[in-house]
Amino acid sequence: MGKIYMVGSQKGGVGKTTTTLNLAYFLQKMGKKVLAVDFDSQANLTACLGIVNTGELENTIGHLMMAEMEDAKLPAPKRYIRTKEGIDFIPASIYLSVVDAKLRLEMGAEKMLSGILEPLREKYDYILIDTCPSLGTLTINALAAADDVIITVNPQLLAMMGMQDFLKTVMKIKRRINPKLEIAGILLTMCDTRTKLCKVLTEQVEDCFQGQVRIFETRIPNTVKVGESIYYSMPVGQYSLKSSASIAYWKFTKELIADEG
Ligand SMILES: Nc1ncnc2c1ncn2[C@@H]1O[C@H](COP(=O)(O)OP(=O)(O)O)[C@@H](O)[C@H]1O
Ligand SMILES: [Mg+2]
Repeated sequence: MGKIYMVGSQKGGVGKTTTTLNLAYFLQKMGKKVLAVDFDSQANLTACLGIVNTGELENTIGHLMMAEMEDAKLPAPKRYIRTKEGIDFIPASIYLSVVDAKLRLEMGAEKMLSGILEPLREKYDYILIDTCPSLGTLTINALAAADDVIITVNPQLLAMMGMQDFLKTVMKIKRRINPKLEIAGILLTMCDTRTKLCKVLTEQVEDCFQGQVRIFETRIPNTVKVGESIYYSMPVGQYSLKSSASIAYWKFTKELIADEG
């Protein structure tokens, strides 16, 4: 049975999408069967996987969510799961924001995404959910569907701000909706290790969470190779295998699954 990871944070621009993409890439390089789910109406992950004009797409995660909410039968997985570079994925589009609005009006609609992903667990070793930066209904649905949360933090972006709110939300969902939910850990992204500021901010995160939440030993360095790889719709591991970010994401992938045996 596959494990479901949500990649989350209450902030944007902290490397969630980049982490989802590269984790998916390296997991499949290890021979694992991976499904990446774009659960952000901005559809950045979908774009990273080569689909830029998402407006016309049918069978996105938004369409599946809508069907699930209306108790309609979902299409067969082969109709909505696409594949790029060995990574299976479910695309998103702006339509997901319509779902977001509708979810707010529904009662007990926290388990819609879970309802879509549960039957897919048996086909995959890992399902990764890329989320949007909010604590709204979509994030709650992702937390209700996940086993573990990877929290990405960009130390440059006032890393601590909003973090406690995010952790509180995770704990609330664990108590009320999804008792198996755990925090896998905090991944520091876009670290400029040469700068003093980054060092200070990283220490701040460590001081605050040491002993409370795992902080992954691997840190993702800040490098232009990431932006370049996204421009070419590729995981950085594929675009530039020897780049520092690629090496770091490979190490992170091994660190993440090391304890699973
Ligand atoms: N390690 C990195 N080094 C340099 N730029 C990065 C790195 N990781 C992400 N970026 C860039 O930062 C921006 C935000 O990253 P993204 O993964 O989209 O964050 P989020 O999904 O949290 O909004 C993107 O333009 C991406 O290219
Ligand atoms: Mg994103």
